[in-house]
Amino acid sequence: MPTVVYVNDDGSQMTVDTPVATSLMRAALGNQVPGIVGECGGSATCGTCHVYLDHSTEEFDPPSGDEDDMLEWTAAPRAENSRLSCQLVPRQESSHLIVRVPAKQI
Ligand code: FES
Repeated sequence: MPTVVYVNDDGSQMTVDTPVATSLMRAALGNQVPGIVGECGGSATCGTCHVYLDHSTEEFDPPSGDEDDMLEWTAAPRAENSRLSCQLVPRQESSHLIVRVPAKQI
């Protein structure tokens, strides 16, 4: 099962086993990971699931046009590795992913 490490702004972190085909937003909400809101339920229209991918990975497709547009409106500044965690769905059982959660989502 893929594992995802969520690193918060204060340096604390949570490691979550995430079933394949489950978004990082859903996995975070299901495990009470602080800092991920997911207000729109995963339709890439709220920007409250913003994360910074810690390393380059071929696990995910590049952002869609809708995700790319929404990333311009996140509460925390957009960075080169910004993604919406609702759009990040692990595809490999062996995946080990690290994402940083911004200090604010709203
Ligand atoms: Fe709303 Fe990801 S949950 S953009």
